[in-house]
Amino acid sequence: MGSESVNPTVAIADLHRHVDADVTIQGWLYRKTGKGKLQFLQVRDGSGICQAVLFRGNVSDEHFEAAKALTQESSLVVHGVVKANERAPGIPGGYELDARELDIVQIADPYPITPKEHGVEFLMQNRHLWLRSSRQWAIQRVRAVAIRAIRDWLDDHGYLNVDTPILTPAAAEGTTTLFEIDYHGEPAYLAQTGQLYNEANIFAFGKVYCFGPTFRAEKSKTRRHLQEFWMVEPEIAFCNLEQLMEIEEQFVSYIVQRCLHDCQAELAVLERDLTRLAQVTPPFPRIHYDEAVRLINEAAARGELVPGYPDPVPAIEWGDDFGSPHETYIAAQFEKPVFVHHYPTQVKAFYMEPEAGRPEVCRSVDLLAPEGYGEIIGGSERMSDPEKLAAAIRHHGLPQEVYDWYLDLRRYGSVVHSGFGLGVERVVMWVCGLDHVRESIAFPRTLTNMRP
Ligand code: 4AD
Ligand code: MG
Repeated sequence: MGSESVNPTVAIADLHRHVDADVTIQGWLYRKTGKGKLQFLQVRDGSGICQAVLFRGNVSDEHFEAAKALTQESSLVVHGVVKANERAPGIPGGYELDARELDIVQIADPYPITPKEHGVEFLMQNRHLWLRSSRQWAIQRVRAVAIRAIRDWLDDHGYLNVDTPILTPAAAEGTTTLFEIDYHGEPAYLAQTGQLYNEANIFAFGKVYCFGPTFRAEKSKTRRHLQEFWMVEPEIAFCNLEQLMEIEEQFVSYIVQRCLHDCQAELAVLERDLTRLAQVTPPFPRIHYDEAVRLINEAAARGELVPGYPDPVPAIEWGDDFGSPHETYIAAQFEKPVFVHHYPTQVKAFYMEPEAGRPEVCRSVDLLAPEGYGEIIGGSERMSDPEKLAAAIRHHGLPQEVYDWYLDLRRYGSVVHSGFGLGVERVVMWVCGLDHVRESIAFPRTLTNMRP
């Protein structure tokens, strides 16, 4: 037998499968306590945290003394016997290692991030180290599960993943948030969305999605905006606005339920209240923009406070886009995520289909998350008539020549079609219950920070 069967290296997450067996774990020291003949090492290995118990007598004096010199984040290898112990701390906890041998790989320098409180600015400067804390560990693992759920649902429902370009010649989501770069002497822009290319792809593949980083030079500093974020964008041929909402509620419910099921340890670390997430099942309520404006203005007239804000609900003019307090107020009226549909045409992108007989509103829909997390999805039915679309491109002052190909899509077998974009960081923020979107991605790009 190979040597791995004698004293195999196991992941901490798998300790439960090795009770009473000799194993090796390798990782970093998270915390250390102890006195007299006992030392407790909290060891992290990326899969979890477990307590290694060093009892003088079970380990050599040399190893016992060496353990005393261990500093936070020192790298080490511990050999020992796995014991089931309900009270053993850790993630997931319940199992500990009765240590027999300790190999120190490196004694770490004094670590800048200690269990005491640190300011956000300091933590952001040390993001490369901050990621090792159990809270950040939990968030990135939820993110990975959410992404897996996204792909699984789409792949299982007949959507083909077709990737779209990052370097693009034109704006799709407004010209104010473009990152411009030099494409061999010509201006080019980092993609704000893959949607326009998705629209070409549905005519070849029916149902598609693109999934990748998107870029917005957002000038405002909010809790919900990044300069670089990941968006998954499904696009569907022969699909109208009503059908789109049904797809979105199935999709979002699946993602949330999958995180609840697969991330119990992570959500426990984050102390997330799971009762609200458990309610995320189809169908979701749907309200018209007109109705949303009425609810907001009635609350404003009563002087009602926005949940979680010190301020009253601000009144809104019909035709204006919602601010965060408006979205938060609307979302708070419902237990589940809520669809707001038929926004004013003037606040939405050029490609959205106007409502027949009422062109001042368009066949758009945003999905607002509960508990103040705001818009997680933006989507719409797309304009399918070539003349109307050409007029919209002119009306928005966009350069006709770079959209020629996009108009072609309406010339060769045009069909009613719809799609949406879901922001991964917004979903992670919501599922994890984060105060700020910056924690939802390993290395966030915000208005004020792109280091490290
Ligand atoms: O509503 P948006 O701008 O829609 C689009 O880009 C469409 N082209 C999508 C489509 O129909 N294919 O963005 C979609 C989602 C938002 O609902 C939000 O979740 C996220 O992307 N998002 C951001 N997330 C973080 N930081 C930002 N600056 C974001 N801007 C949008
Ligand atoms: Mg939007």
